[in-house]
Amino acid sequence: MQTEILSPQTEKSAIEKAGKLLRAGEIVVIPTETVYGLAADALNAQAVKKIYRAKGRPSDNPLIVHISSFEEIFPLVREVPERAKKLAEAFWPGPLTMILPKSEKIPDVTSGGLDTVAIRLPAHPTAQAIIRATGRPLAAPSANISGFPSPTRPGHVIDDMTGRVPLIIEDGDCTVGVESTVITLATEKPKILRPGGITKEMLEAVLKEEVALDEAVLSPLKQGKAAASPGMKYKHYAPKTNITIYRGTEKGYYRFLKKNQGNGVYALCFEEDVEKISLPCVTMGSFSDPLSQTRRLFDAFRELDELGAHTAYARIPSADGIGLAVCNRLFRAAAFRFHDEAPILGLTGQTGAGKSMAASLFQERGYSIIDCDQIAHEITAAGSPVLSALASKFGNEILRSDGSLNRQKLAELAFSSKENTKALNAITHPAIIQETKRLALLSGEKNHPCVIDAPLLFQSGLDAICDFTIAVIAPTELRLARIEKRDQIDENTAKKRNSAQEEESYYKERADFLIRNYPPYELKDEVLSVMERVRI
Ligand code: TXA
Ligand code: MG
Repeated sequence: MQTEILSPQTEKSAIEKAGKLLRAGEIVVIPTETVYGLAADALNAQAVKKIYRAKGRPSDNPLIVHISSFEEIFPLVREVPERAKKLAEAFWPGPLTMILPKSEKIPDVTSGGLDTVAIRLPAHPTAQAIIRATGRPLAAPSANISGFPSPTRPGHVIDDMTGRVPLIIEDGDCTVGVESTVITLATEKPKILRPGGITKEMLEAVLKEEVALDEAVLSPLKQGKAAASPGMKYKHYAPKTNITIYRGTEKGYYRFLKKNQGNGVYALCFEEDVEKISLPCVTMGSFSDPLSQTRRLFDAFRELDELGAHTAYARIPSADGIGLAVCNRLFRAAAFRFHDEAPILGLTGQTGAGKSMAASLFQERGYSIIDCDQIAHEITAAGSPVLSALASKFGNEILRSDGSLNRQKLAELAFSSKENTKALNAITHPAIIQETKRLALLSGEKNHPCVIDAPLLFQSGLDAICDFTIAVIAPTELRLARIEKRDQIDENTAKKRNSAQEEESYYKERADFLIRNYPPYELKDEVLSVMERVRI
């Protein structure tokens, strides 16, 4: 079939031509503010069948009927409930589709054999003009080949529909970029079947009641369960590229990508990420601007395919507001493949501040603790390379007859001079750091949250692998009293030990979170509040 491509911006007759073809029972690609649509006269069953054929769409997946003014709804439905009037008043014309009991005027092929019909009044002036020029409501699904990403740019529809339709009306990029929100008003309670540009919060504000969210919005449809919206059961929005969504922190995402580079491997990320990633990137808008994400998402999918990407690791968008529509499309495109990584927390603080107590509160709540002091012990086990390095530096007198470390002897020698202390640290610190890193990264990858308990978290550079750093702080007087009691030492010894510590300001400048362990604060509340904030 010959396909004509016309733009109403340059070709005055474009809209008339489209109307004429549609009236004659033909199919035409039309622009809308959400995505491009593949339109046919909604009341002409033969014309509607052509849509299914051109898209390769299963015939039980109903279509949306587009109108150009509110009054046109009345002949298409059995009743217009109060809720529909309110929503139309607030959001039409715009990216909202309402499902209502259909009238006998709607052919079965249009409604996929259902007793309800989906109606939308699009905001795009060209879409409205074409409906008016046709003089009929237009059934129009997204103008992609079934199962592929919806088209949001002229190039997309030209790629997908050339040769399948007589006419494509192109009119620039779609401003919303994801399909309309679908809400059913045919059930007792209103329910969102597909999230889109009109958010749950916006709907609830107008209806002044709770709007439910279909469970298929963010999770795969359970086997054997009927879909509230037939479209949900089909593989959707899927590019050829295999997408996996990284569910973890921003830092974790970058870490993960570094380890997973390869031929044909791309990052599907936000504009802000690009400079921090060495993999080739395809962007899906800006992290801080969800509207830019809806606009970019489908184009990004197509771009990945054009680049011949084999695998793309996507950073997870926020699901708030319109972000829910982005997550819904992205999760489906990824066939719900996720890679989950738990956050790595770094915990530090001055002596006596209560670091260990904070660590045990994390442990009680399921975090594993990676204790650097304990690792320091373990790496000097009998026969270890670190122990033999220490023996060649400080002499075999630091070894017991069974080959184990005589810690007291080592302390005596190592702390006898600054130089010796330095030598001790030069041998042990790299090994402690290496082992801590290994354990922490392993824990994160296994999706098990962990806390690195490290007095020298920042000094050692271990903070670099932490998703979040936390410092426990307390006033000096209180800390001195605590260590005197804990270690059974006098005030002077306590003060001496404290003088080797960094100032509180050191921690305040560096840590992502502070835990205040002094009245009137409760350590437990402080820990719980941090846990809440580091949740992914
Ligand atoms: O933004 C949009 O809505 C675009 C533009 C072209 O207007 N159209 C669009 O249509 O996305 P389509 O066919 O790709 O998606 C319609 C969705 C499908 O998931 C379908 O199953 C659902 O709406 N739907 C249609 N009628 C329904 C009904 N009576 N009950 C439940 N779901 C219905
Ligand atoms: Mg579609």
